[in-house]
Amino acid sequence: MRTITLIPGDGIGVEVTNSVKRVVEATNVEIYWEIIDAGEKAFGATGEYMPQKLIDSIYKNKIAFKGPLTTPIGEGFRSINVALRKEFNTYANIRPVKNMPNIKTPFNNVDLVIIRENSEGLYTGIEHVVTHGVTEAIKVITRDASLKIAKHAFEYARFHNRKKVTAVHKANIMKITDGLFLESVREIASDYDDIEYEEIIVDNMAMQLVMYPEKYDVLVMPNLYGDIISDLAAGLVGGLGLIPSGNIGDDIAIFEAVHGSAPLIAGKNMANPIACILSSAMMLDYMNEKPAGDLIRKAVFTVLKEGKCLTNDIGGNASTDEITDAICNAIKKYI
Ligand code: NAI
Repeated sequence: MRTITLIPGDGIGVEVTNSVKRVVEATNVEIYWEIIDAGEKAFGATGEYMPQKLIDSIYKNKIAFKGPLTTPIGEGFRSINVALRKEFNTYANIRPVKNMPNIKTPFNNVDLVIIRENSEGLYTGIEHVVTHGVTEAIKVITRDASLKIAKHAFEYARFHNRKKVTAVHKANIMKITDGLFLESVREIASDYDDIEYEEIIVDNMAMQLVMYPEKYDVLVMPNLYGDIISDLAAGLVGGLGLIPSGNIGDDIAIFEAVHGSAPLIAGKNMANPIACILSSAMMLDYMNEKPAGDLIRKAVFTVLKEGKCLTNDIGGNASTDEITDAICNAIKKYI
């Protein structure tokens, strides 16, 4: 039996990670979940936002699954999500975005993978007041991290039979930082003759994605652009309730949905658990349990296709528990 650290998270986190536990159990892959809180909840109980017990658990287990964690806006403690990615150097954030059965959207043929640099950029949290009324945030781009994320993107493309990698940047304005990012991606691209390579400025990328999303395949970009473009891409295919992700490092990985804690719908049993459930399928792939990952994806697609049990965000009125039941039943049918 494999032990995995589980952070239930805030807001809808507890509800959607509970769905993950049930769905994974239905696949018969045996997992012992070591459940440890982080963020506000952990602070209440332990006086630490990121308890040492949690850090030790992830170093030991090497794989974690996390629910979304709330970060106070404009004040308070720093993002635990970012702190976790930094602590474990999970430098690559992989976010597949694809049309799903029965989800109505004006955009068809969307099949993108966003590969977001996860360890630096504008997320270093280095900010200060220069003088009254003047503030500064420092964006860090290093050659090492840029080469690493670029290599990850091209390896991902090759492994998954993808045809093209697009580097997304703003090197026309940030000539030094994004310039270095671009130079690093170009260096790696030259080793992959089998994969088409192109570059695009981030603002144009936003427009292209809502006009011609079908033209794009694997997108690699610095941290902040990846954060924004992933939510935009989620909107193309039905919203944040559907989009999974994995934070991948050299030997540690943390899986989570792209969405946050959605406070307005928390505790109402109405959150869509599919983003988290598909993140658990990515986790099973990573654990060399691809048949179980495929089973989960097949079950999710079946439930969406049937269209009888959908949550509110995707046009239905089923609860979190009901759609989870339907996905578990589909898994049991296919096993
Ligand atoms: P959010 O992702 O929580 O919500 C954005 C919108 O999507 C809301 O309308 C929400 O109701 C909807 N939504 C999100 N997930 C859904 C689901 N599973 N089912 C149905 N609807 C869903 O983003 P927001 O409101 O910007 O952030 C709320 C909190 O979450 C903040 O404290 C933020 O810092 C945190 N956050 C945490 C993340 C993480 O833990 N990785 C990622 C993004 C935000």
